[in-house]
Amino acid sequence: MKILMVCLGNICRSPLADGLMQKKVSDHKLDIRVDSAGTTGIHAGEAPDARMCQTAKSFGVPIDQLKSRKFVVEDFDLFDVIFTMDKSNKANVLQLARTEADKNKVHLILDMTYPNENKEVPDPYYGGEDGFIEVYHLLDAATDSILEKIKNNELN
Ligand code: 4NP
Repeated sequence: MKILMVCLGNICRSPLADGLMQKKVSDHKLDIRVDSAGTTGIHAGEAPDARMCQTAKSFGVPIDQLKSRKFVVEDFDLFDVIFTMDKSNKANVLQLARTEADKNKVHLILDMTYPNENKEVPDPYYGGEDGFIEVYHLLDAATDSILEKIKNNELN
């Protein structure tokens, strides 16, 4: 199983989702590959935003080692499930889908915790520290739910 987390810049939300998921699959000794990407390449090659790194570190999740990269169409071949942070990221990824099978891989990550509500992980980039902490809690719960679904063979 291979999971890709996607946001806009791949420096705030998706690196945290990536780091949280990697920590959980490693803690549970699961053979799952996790990565993240952004729909834009404007921060490609950069480490995650310092504020996101700090928040993640305060909760015991190291993400400083991650590097931003742009989502590419080949990611549809490399990953089984693609979780986007908001509806705009989802639309951007779906625009690159070549087949129905590609499209079926793409989900809003908060569908895991709030099914059918179309809920989004807010972009914390232009806000204060509270926004980063809110993102942490939303993604901690969502990745717990993903882990549960993997264990119950419910993630496809
Ligand atoms: P992310 O946040 O999509 O969660 O990584 C953003 C990071 C950078 C920008 C926007 C959102 N930006 O416009 O540079």
